[in-house]
Parts: sequence; C-alpha cells; structure tokens
Amino acid sequence: MAEAYRAIPITERVYWVGAVDWTLRDFHGYTTRRGSSYNAYLILADRVTLVDTVKKPFKEEFLSRVASVIDPRKVEVVVSNHSEMDHSGCLAEVIEEIRPREVYASPMGVKTLAELSPSLSTGITAVADGRSVSLGNMTLSFMETRMLHWPDSMFTYLQEEKLLFSHDAFGMHLASHERFADEVDTAVLEYEAATYFANILLPYAGLMTKLLARVDSAGLSFDVIAPDHGPVWRRNPGWIVERYRRWAQQKRAKKAVVVYGTMWHSTEKMARYIGEGLSSRGVPAKVMAVDAFHRSDIAYEMLDAAALVVGTSTLNNNMLPKVADVLTYLKGLRPLNVVGAAFGSYGWSGEGTLQVNEVLKEMKAALPLEPLRVRHVPTTSDLAACRELGEKLADILNA
Ligand code: FEO
Repeated sequence: MAEAYRAIPITERVYWVGAVDWTLRDFHGYTTRRGSSYNAYLILADRVTLVDTVKKPFKEEFLSRVASVIDPRKVEVVVSNHSEMDHSGCLAEVIEEIRPREVYASPMGVKTLAELSPSLSTGITAVADGRSVSLGNMTLSFMETRMLHWPDSMFTYLQEEKLLFSHDAFGMHLASHERFADEVDTAVLEYEAATYFANILLPYAGLMTKLLARVDSAGLSFDVIAPDHGPVWRRNPGWIVERYRRWAQQKRAKKAVVVYGTMWHSTEKMARYIGEGLSSRGVPAKVMAVDAFHRSDIAYEMLDAAALVVGTSTLNNNMLPKVADVLTYLKGLRPLNVVGAAFGSYGWSGEGTLQVNEVLKEMKAALPLEPLRVRHVPTTSDLAACRELGEKLADILNA
C-alpha cells in the first residue's frame, strides 16, 4: 500500500514531520480561514531527535511521516518547546509508543506538561535557559522564551545547521501543501503573519522586543527558522524577524478603526460620518460593523491603527453583545499607544456608549474627546457633530 504521508526535508538532516489541518476555523476565538498546520521536526543526528509533536487527532499522520524516514522507535530524544495541546496533545501516547531515552522541556514546560496529563508527570527532564545537549554529531541549545506566549515556551537551536525551532513564534495559521515561505504568495504571508501576531502575540509585544534584543546580543544568527505553524523560513528568515521587531514596537500609523454595532442604523450612520471626518483630514478610517467583521479581523486592523473609535446602540441598559465581544477580545490583546473615542445612539437611557468609554479607559486608550451620544435618529446637526468628532481625532493624530 502506498504511504499516506511523507516527511519533507528541510535541510539534509532535518525533516518536517507535522500535520496539516485543512479544516481548522477557530483557534480560541481567532478565526483561521486558511486552516493551520502543526509542525514537528525530525533531526537525523547520531541521537535521532523529534522537536515537538502535534494535536492529538493528527498523531497517526505525524508518526506516519516519521516512519517514512526512520523507524519511530529509533528516536532517542524528544524536545517539547511548547506544551499547548496543539503541540503536545499526543505527546504522552507518542512517548508510550516510541519510548525515547530522553524527553526535554523548559522547567515551566515540565510543570505544565505534568498538569496537562498525569502520564507526563514523570520522565521529562528540565533544560535550563542556555543549556546545550549533545546529539552526538550535532548540538541543541535551549533558550527560554517565557510568556511568548505561554510560561513554558522555549526556543531550540540546532547549532550546526543554524536552525531555530521557534515554537509558535514566527508562525502563522496557514494550511498548505507548500512547506516553505518562499513558495507562498507574499501577500498571503504578510496578511497571515500579521494576523497571527495581532491575535496571539500582541499582549506580549514588550517581551518580544526584549527577546529579539537578547538574540541580537547573543550574536545568534539563523539560516532557517522552523515554527510550529505555517511555512518554514529557509530563505531570508530576516523577513519575518524584521516584521516581528516592527510589530512588537507598536508604532502606529495614521489610521483609525471605527467599530460599531447598530440596532436601527442610527449608530451605523454616526460611524460613517465619523469615518468621513477622519478620512477628510488624512487619516484613513476602516469602518467595521461587528455584524460584518470577525473580532480577529478587527484585531488585525488594530495592529497598526492609531485610533480605535467604538460605537454601540444601547440595548437593555447595556452595550450590544457583539460590541462587548469585540471589546473584551481587544482588551485582552492590550494594544498600546491608542487614542480612543466612544459614540452611539440610544432611545431611553444610553448607558451603552458610556460603558464603551469605560472599557476604552481600562484599555488605557487616551480619550481626548467626550463620548458622543445621540437620541434615536441622528439629526443633520448630530451628523455634523459626528463628522467633527472624526476631524478632531484626525487633528490629534496629525499633531
Ligand atoms: Fe500553537 Fe500556543 O500553541
């Protein structure tokens, strides 16, 4: 019978042995329209090594790719760079089947894996930050990358190949037959890498900047970056590193995102006039209805937008549920250096807009303008006030 799955060579001695998840559409709240991959790697060193495993339902695909190169029971070493279940879901079963001599994880990884699965509570060796392990003819070194994006995350560096196994970092959710970034359309790479950073790594942007400075000061250079999702960076890995450096700084463009939820189109009208006001003063505004855009699309736009303007109708003394959804999500992503404003139409009491203003405050957005509230249907002068709000915000961004 023909082999279903084959390993893909990354270098002469390193193979991709992961799995492609063509149908994944949600990654805890982040919409993944192009699916994803769970990347794992096989190193054919004297001591044969696996770096990471895959999500539980993909175990057979993963082991089958390993078996296309070598008997899986010849694997001596397993490294777990990141214990989130998309990379460790089948780890316990894989260890049981292949019986490696050593399993390595960061100190926090050892703790986390034990908490995720009782059968991983023994037999895993913690490797301290900076420690190296000999594979005979090759050497692995480890660098803890705490909170990027879990406490356990660590980089593994294959010295002889200058190859970085970077766990989630430098990855993207993209299911494809192409295994290398240089085989994928650049516009797709740009969009998916930025969406991934905006939805997963943004809360830890400050740590990312520190990590990249650490990599620089250690003089580490990479010929290949092999992340746990999406394509491998084998040509010009600096392309993605430079983008991470820029995104992590959260330097914002003169651009506004106007997000709104509306019941009877009054708040929608306000949003459009605010957007016009912004754009008329040279600040392009993306006007995004919560009914038309997914929260992770809004997060993508907020990766570089300098202003977040949020509108809601008031429903039963509250902001609209979908507006609350988006704001809860954005608050968790902790975008910095943002100017905010709240607006909305209401019929009786109008708490919704004020609640939005409070959440923007909690997000530490600068709020130079009072919330703009309109009763029922905006009049011509109300709409002029909306336009003026947009113009004033633009003036602040342009100052
Ligand atoms: Fe791909 Fe944090 O797991």
